[in-house]
Amino acid sequence: MNKKKKIGILTGGGDCPGINAVIRAVARKAMLEDDAEIIGIEDGYEGLVNNRYRKLQLRELSGILTVGGTILGTSKKANPYRYAIKNGDKLVFKDLSRRALDNIDDMELDCLVVIGGDGTLGIAYKLFKDGVPVIGVPKTIDNDIMGTEITFGFDSAVWIATEGIDRLHTTAQSHHRIMIVEVMGHNAGWIALHSGIAGGGDIILIPEIPYQIDAIVAKVRERHSRGKKFSIIVVAEGAKPKGGDIVIQRIVKESSDPIRLGGIGFVLGQQIENMTGIETRTVVMGHLQRGGSPTPYDRVLATELGTKAVDMIQAQEFGSMVGVQKCKLVKVSLKEVSKGSRKIPLDHPLIKSARSLDTSFGDKK
Ligand code: F6P
Repeated sequence: MNKKKKIGILTGGGDCPGINAVIRAVARKAMLEDDAEIIGIEDGYEGLVNNRYRKLQLRELSGILTVGGTILGTSKKANPYRYAIKNGDKLVFKDLSRRALDNIDDMELDCLVVIGGDGTLGIAYKLFKDGVPVIGVPKTIDNDIMGTEITFGFDSAVWIATEGIDRLHTTAQSHHRIMIVEVMGHNAGWIALHSGIAGGGDIILIPEIPYQIDAIVAKVRERHSRGKKFSIIVVAEGAKPKGGDIVIQRIVKESSDPIRLGGIGFVLGQQIENMTGIETRTVVMGHLQRGGSPTPYDRVLATELGTKAVDMIQAQEFGSMVGVQKCKLVKVSLKEVSKGSRKIPLDHPLIKSARSLDTSFGDKK
């Protein structure tokens, strides 16, 4: 009798809307078409190193399409190749990849589906090079993964950020204030650019275009002189002044990517209020952007990516990620994905389009 195919699924990095929709798509299709057994590894690479997993049943997959977060749990710290262990007050890093590889063998997995962002998929590439048949699925609100023009979770985050900007317009207008909305995005400005345009931000600040405080103040003053007594500024957490630096909120030492951004909105708010004399308030959208139910777009995209991942398992196209290029699902090598993160090109049509509507990027007076 043929042995049942066993597929492991792991979700790593920050949670985001749509992960459960991918888990559901992968598991249901593989169960229905191949009668496969699905092994859910708990808390990302943490569970892989410490051998925590469970067999997923069809009933556990029911009703999760619309649910945010991940039913498997996740970790932003665990990396089998550089695993942090506390030794008294000290942290020591150990290569526990052999243990992770042995666990994969013990689970008798035929392949591993890794749902994650650039960090998680970079580790997946290492596992692949160490002999694990891996398929990647691009997950992040930041939309910054190489080899794909869109990631699931991004649309939901943009929707939430835009909702925030819309609501802050009311106070900005009524109180004649400057409202600064800080959005996530790590070192890329995709969320700020899209939500800034969708929310009608007057100034959009992104990491890819370092700002000049004088240019921001000039824009606010120019609006005032035209009778516009309020301004909305959308700033990406990774934005920085020309010749200056990012604002760091905390360092997570155990993490392979330890810097957590945040706080640029408050720094800017103080400077702008001092320079203009206009009351300036800052709102940080933070983790609200990662929470709750995925948008219909993300549910559809997550379902497409998940089912395509199973096609790729069936075709044994391991060492690859499902990507979207020119609106089509494509196979992208994990080697390409692990090269870094995808920033907004300076000639991006959306930047041009926003500029043509007099939206400032804080770089010109
Ligand atoms: O990658 C997703 C993301 O939300 C980034 O936009 C943000 O910089 C980071 O994760 C925040 O991480 P944490 O949840 O550890 O604070």
